[in-house]
Order: sequence, then structure tokens, then C-alpha cells
Amino acid sequence: MTDDLPAHYGGEPIRENALGYGSQSISEEEKREVVEALEGDYITRGPTVDAFEERVADLVDVDHAIATTSGTTALHLAGRAAGFDSGDEVITTPLTFVSTAHAATYCGATPIFADIDPYRRTLDPDAVRDRITPETEAIVPMHYGGHPADIEGLLEVADEHKLTVIWDACHAFGGAWNAEPIGAQRDMAVFSFHPVKNVTTGEGGMVVTDDNELAKRLRRLRSFEMDYSPEGHRDEPWYQVSKGVGYNYNVTDIQAALGLAQLNRLEAFKTRRDEIISAYNAAFADVSGLRTPPESTNSDPMYHLYAVEIGEEFGCDRKESVNALHAENLGVQVHYVPLHYHSYFQEEFGYERGAFPETERVYEGLVSLPLHAEMDDKDVEDVITAVHRLHEYHT
Ligand SMILES: Cc1ncc(COP(=O)(O)O)c(C=O)c1O
Repeated sequence: MTDDLPAHYGGEPIRENALGYGSQSISEEEKREVVEALEGDYITRGPTVDAFEERVADLVDVDHAIATTSGTTALHLAGRAAGFDSGDEVITTPLTFVSTAHAATYCGATPIFADIDPYRRTLDPDAVRDRITPETEAIVPMHYGGHPADIEGLLEVADEHKLTVIWDACHAFGGAWNAEPIGAQRDMAVFSFHPVKNVTTGEGGMVVTDDNELAKRLRRLRSFEMDYSPEGHRDEPWYQVSKGVGYNYNVTDIQAALGLAQLNRLEAFKTRRDEIISAYNAAFADVSGLRTPPESTNSDPMYHLYAVEIGEEFGCDRKESVNALHAENLGVQVHYVPLHYHSYFQEEFGYERGAFPETERVYEGLVSLPLHAEMDDKDVEDVITAVHRLHEYHT
């Protein structure tokens, strides 16, 4: 701890160089694998993508993994594969990135927001139940920060109303719930391999499922809705038939080479993230007005974010805290501006501020502190010192 003045109020910044809230970690071995892929026969989707998909399916303990260009396009494919269409309603959380809701909007369906359980900071099954209508087609829950949503409760609601479930697991790759990998729950789950996520391919995403029919549809949609070996044309190897409007969401062998090599360090990434979280939890245990991320006994999350909530007793509000931590050269961020605050969702679907009180209350305090596998002990200490000295200055 320190009596120094925080940089925001005239003191010296704790760091000279900026520390981001998230960052990739790329090893020399991973760079070599990428170069090797560049020298291969395929630099678009080829055997390395197949190998990456198989490895992810194995890790998540599902039958199928379909790689795509981002978490966003993975959500789009999942929505299309589930058959979302205009007139359908898809229930999701307002406390998420826009892409979660676009699983519905890209397909012409309507995103219906339901309020969050403030402990997990994501969909509350009872709030979901209240939003169900005859038009409800699906639920798209999101594992905020990597901590699992109430999987049991949400599956119960889905069972009661025969709804499809697409888990937005973009934050949660590498974690487990009830000894089951996150992503193994029905019907589909979606991962992101953006650089700030738990594992990266630069840009990239994946849909996983146990359902053979969904997997077939996902693969076809990813690649132009093209049937490359249609019935009745076995002796015409060039013959291909487009069966609808598909996309080019093909990921490259170059990206898959990076992804495959990153998976070799998945355990090491998780260990380092867990060490940082333990250090933060211990250091912040007696900081009044600072709520640390949820913990649970039946899950082993791989946390993507370390999002704290700044309450009144902390001494200054969230805006002041973010600006003060930025002044220390700590690139803290807020996840997320609730979707019903965005002009698109207000103008297109009539949402207004005030509609989701728990989401809004939690949002008011949220700040994501730096958390990534490249952080060394000094980085962790800088964050802890900055938070302590800000709190002490104000109390
Ligand atoms: C919860 C959530 N869903 C979806 C996405 C979209 O993933 P991508 O950036 O890979 O398109 C993100 C990315 O930030 C996210 O945080």
C-alpha cells in the first residue's frame, strides 16, 4: 500500500507503459506453426482447420465443432441453423456485447431482453420466464466474464417451453460447470478467439454442438450454402448446388495453426489467470465498496474478465474510478453499456432506459481490471496498488 497521491489528482502515474485489460500471448513456437502453415498447400480452409475443429470438439466433449471467422459470425450461423426468422422472438441479456443480440437480428428475428441475476451478472431464468410469448423461439444466454450463467435454471425454462438454446460462451472457453466443459450444453455454444479472449486465432470463432443435423446446416451455411456432393451427381465431381443464401465465413489454415498451438497452452493460460484472480481477490477482500467477480462451488470457470463493481462505500464513483485508473496507465474497460441504451435497439425495437433495473444498477458500478496471461507479478501489483491508493485517497 502507498500514501502517494493518485495520478488523477496530481501524483506520479504508477506505470510508464500502458497495461491493457486484455491481451494475446503468442509464443515463438506458435509463430513457427503459423509460418509452417503458410508454406503448406492450403492457406485457406484446409486440413489444419479440420484438426483445430477436432481438437476443440475433443476438449469441449461434443461431436461437432465448426470454425468460423469470429464469435459474431458464429452467432449468426447458429441463429440461421436454428431457423430464426422474422416474427421469431429470441430472449437474451442486455448486459453483453452487441453480437449476442445479433444472433437474432441478423436473421430478422427480434431480440427480447430479460433482466439479469445481479450475482452472475447475466440472464435470470425467472426474468426469462416472464418474457416468453407464443413467438419465443430460443434463448441466447451469455456466460458473463467466463463465469457460467445459471445453466440448470435456464435449461429448465427451455425445457418447459421447448426452446432452442444457443450459449454465447465467447468469454468462457476452457472452463467447466458441474465437471462438464462449458460449451457441452445443448443445443449449440459459440466461442470467440479474438485477441483478448482466453485463446486467440487473431480473429476467429467456433460453434459446437452434439446435433448432427445442426452441424450439417452450420457447415453448409459457413460455405455459401453449397452442397459439394449433391445426390444424383456422383459421377460429376465438379457438380455443386447452392441450396440457399450462405456465407463465406471460412477460417484459414493460418489462423487454425495459431489456434491449435495455443490449445497446447490452455492449461498454462488458465493457471496464470487463476493466480492473478487469487491475488486480486486477496488484495481486495477488505476494500469496502468493491465487489469482486462471482465465485461458485460447482464450476471451474476460465475467467475472461475480472470485472469489479464499484459501490458507494468505495469513495468515488465508477466514472471517477475509470478516469483515475487510466491516469495510472491502466487500460481498464467497462463491459458493457447495456444493449437497451444503444440507439439501434431503441429505434428498431423501442427499448428505453429504465426497463431493466438490475442490469442498470450493476452496469453503474462495473469496471474490468486487467486480466491476461502475459501479466507478470509487477503488473498485478501495479493494479492492486492503484486500486488501494484510489480508495484510500477517497476514504
Ligand atoms: C459476449 C460476446 N459475444 C460475442 C462476441 C463477438 O466475438 P468476436 O469479437 O469474435 O466477433 C464478443 C466479443 O467481444 C463477446 O464479448
